Amino acid sequence: MGGGGCTPRKEHMHEIYKRAQDAAGHIRQRSPNAPAIGIILGSGLGNFANRVQEQVSIPYSEIPHFPQSTVVGHSGKLILGHIHGVPVAVMQGRVHAYEGYTMPEVTFPTRVLGLLGCRTLIVTNAAGGIRPDLPQGGLVAISDHINLTGMNAAVGPNEPRFGVATGSGQRFFDMSNAYSPALRNLAQQEAARRNIGLPEGVYLAVLGPSYETPAEIRAFRTLGADLVGMSTVHEVIVARHMGLQVLGLSLVTNLAAGVLDQPINHEEVMQMGLQAEADFTSLLEALIPQIKAETAQHHA
Ligand code: HPA
Repeated sequence: MGGGGCTPRKEHMHEIYKRAQDAAGHIRQRSPNAPAIGIILGSGLGNFANRVQEQVSIPYSEIPHFPQSTVVGHSGKLILGHIHGVPVAVMQGRVHAYEGYTMPEVTFPTRVLGLLGCRTLIVTNAAGGIRPDLPQGGLVAISDHINLTGMNAAVGPNEPRFGVATGSGQRFFDMSNAYSPALRNLAQQEAARRNIGLPEGVYLAVLGPSYETPAEIRAFRTLGADLVGMSTVHEVIVARHMGLQVLGLSLVTNLAAGVLDQPINHEEVMQMGLQAEADFTSLLEALIPQIKAETAQHHA
């Protein structure tokens, strides 16, 4: 874990770019096919990685500068290969700000996915359901987010080189439609064909690691949040800075604090991941070629 607080100084930002290039260079040596789609698997959703064909699996510990996860259920491997012929890079496990990682560390893997050539990022997570009609064990397509972590991964001197491939990388960048309506629409159509419920929802991010109080959840509901979690928003901010299209999927592992009169525990969160995994895996697998086609159109 590098020190230095959350605000990188100018020389540090150049260093982050250099480190991300180092990491990307190492990954390219081990798997020369440039991935088109990057996928970050959240708590309990790691088994999707088994679907990757012709896979090259690289433990994070072997990638220069890659942060290592400390949380049970986040195993820490980058898996490269193909899904229905589409080159993908799958992150099995991520690191979180609540573990003590800085913003550049939390978003380092996303930066590397961008440098490897990914034009789409699929971010997944476990979340607490705030809106009463979101069932425990169900999937939700993230339509927007509210970042209440008190942090922003784009803080610090701007590094435009992260956006050159897409004509992005500006100091100030748009966050309307940060979660691509086109990709969400594809996901919802595919879910409907498979009889999988996929309502939309607004994801609110907190720092954690404590779960929320019931009063906080009531406040978040008033703010317009449907889901609450401790990840995703930083990765999405950085992805948008690099001009990537984003699809966000949440698995509702539990109802948020105070919705039911019972405490929340991490084991339950993990268990629910296993149960919903089959739906999640089949949906995502079927979506990959459709997303590739859609993104090709977007960048045409
Ligand atoms: N709150 C925050 N993060 C979460 C939750 C929750 O209820 N469930 C899974 N991740």
